[in-house]
Amino acid sequence: TRTQVGIIGAGPAGLLLQHMLARHGVDSVLVENRSREYCEKRQRAGVLEHGTVELLKEIGLGDRMMREGLLHSGIYLQFAGERHHLDFPSLTGGRTLTVYAQTEVVKDAIAAGHPIFFEVSDTAVRDIDTERPVLSFTDADGVAHEVECDAIAGCDGFHGVSRPSMPSLRVSERTYPFGWLGILATVPPSTDELIYAHSPHGFAMHSMRSPEVSRLYIQVDPDEKIDDWSDARIWEQLQIRLGHPGWTLNEGPITEKGITPMRSFVAEPMRSGRLFLAGDAAHIVPPTGAKGLNLAVADVKVLADALVRLLVEGKSDLADAYSETCLTRVWRSTWFSWYMTSMLHRFPVSSFSDPAEADFQEHLQIAQLRQVTSSEAAARNLAENYAGWPLP
Ligand code: FAD
Ligand code: DHB
Repeated sequence: TRTQVGIIGAGPAGLLLQHMLARHGVDSVLVENRSREYCEKRQRAGVLEHGTVELLKEIGLGDRMMREGLLHSGIYLQFAGERHHLDFPSLTGGRTLTVYAQTEVVKDAIAAGHPIFFEVSDTAVRDIDTERPVLSFTDADGVAHEVECDAIAGCDGFHGVSRPSMPSLRVSERTYPFGWLGILATVPPSTDELIYAHSPHGFAMHSMRSPEVSRLYIQVDPDEKIDDWSDARIWEQLQIRLGHPGWTLNEGPITEKGITPMRSFVAEPMRSGRLFLAGDAAHIVPPTGAKGLNLAVADVKVLADALVRLLVEGKSDLADAYSETCLTRVWRSTWFSWYMTSMLHRFPVSSFSDPAEADFQEHLQIAQLRQVTSSEAAARNLAENYAGWPLP
C-alpha cells in the first residue's frame, strides 16, 4: 500500500501531526504498538501553554478543552515558609495556562477518526535516504504491511524505533539524581493554581486534573520502588512538604501512582533523509515546568507546515530547515526545565564532589527563589518561559 506520510506513535505528537496534515489534504497512516484504551489512559502531563491551546482551537480540536479545561493565570512558588503567587497575564502581556490532561488531548485527537492501526508489532523503517521510504509493521490480526511513503514521522517517544534508525546523531544528556513519584487522587484540589514547593524534605507539587481530581508529585530517589510507598507514606510527605500555615491539604483515595526518572536528552539533527523525529523521540526534558507535551506540539506544528510544503507545493525549504527550526525551541525548553528543576529540588549530598556544596546549593536556591518572587524582571523571565513562546 501507499500513503503520503507514515506516522509512528499515537501520542500527542503523532496524533496532532496526523490531524494537521489531514486538514491540508495530506493522507497518512499511523501505527501504534499499544491499544487505544492504553493510549487514552496513560497518565502524563497536564498543563497546556497558551500557544498549545490556541493551536488546538485553530485545528478544530478545542471544543471539549474549552468546556472542561481549567484556566490558570499563574503558579505559586513556596519556599522557606513563604508562598508567593506569580501572575502570568500581567507579567507576559496576557498569556495564561490551561490545565487539561494529556489523556484528554489524546482522546480528542483519536476521536477525529483518521486511520490508525493500534496494537501493531515489528514496526520498522527502511530506505529513509530515498524519496520512497517504507514503513513496515504487523497489524493486530497478524497481517504484515509494507507502506510506501513520501516521508515518515518518528513520533514514537523515547523508547521507539525511529531514533535508532537514524544513521548519525549527536546526543546531549543529563540524568538528575532524583525522580518524581506522581499520584492521582479523588479529592477536589486544595488550591486554585499549581503549587511548586521547595522544602528541606525535597520538592513537592500540587497540580490537578479536574474540580474533583488532584494530581500531586513528590521528589524521591531515582531507584525508589513504588511498592515501598504506601498511600499513608505518600500523604505524610505531601503534608510535610506542601504544608503552609492557615492552609489545608485535603487527602482522598489514591487511584494511581508511579515513579518517573528525571532526565534531559536531545538528539540532533531531528531529520535524516525522509525520516523526521518529533516530540519525545528526539528529546526529553525533566517535567518541572511542564514543557514535554508542549514541546512535542511545537515540533509537529513545524513538521506539518514543512510536510505540506514538501508534498503539496513541492518545495523542500521548510523540510530542510526543520531540525534547526525545532532545536532553537528545544534548547530553550531544555534550559528552562533545567532552571526550574535545579531551583526547586533537593540535591542529595552524594551528588556533590564536596559534601559542603549541598548547603551552598540550597542557599543559592533560596536566593534565586527570593529574586523570582521579589524582582519583576526575574519573575517575568520565569513567566515568559513557563507560559511559553508563540508557536512558529
Ligand atoms: P509519547 O506520548 O511517548 O508517544 C509515543 C507513542 O509511540 C506511544 O503511544 C508509544 O506507545 C508509541 N510507540 C513507541 N514505540 C513504538 C513502535 N515501535 N511502534 C509503534 N508505536 C510505538 N510532561 C509534562 O509536561 N508533565 C508531566 O507530568 C509529565 N509526566 C510524564 C510521565 C511519564 C511516565 C512520561 C514518560 C512522560 C511525562 N511527561 C510529562 C512528558 C510528556 O508526557 C511527553 O513529553 C509527551 O507524551 C510527548 O509526546 P510524544 O507524542 O512525543 O510521545
Ligand atoms: C503537571 C506536570 C508538570 O510537570 C508540571 O510542571 C506541572 C503540572 C501535571 O501533571 O499536572
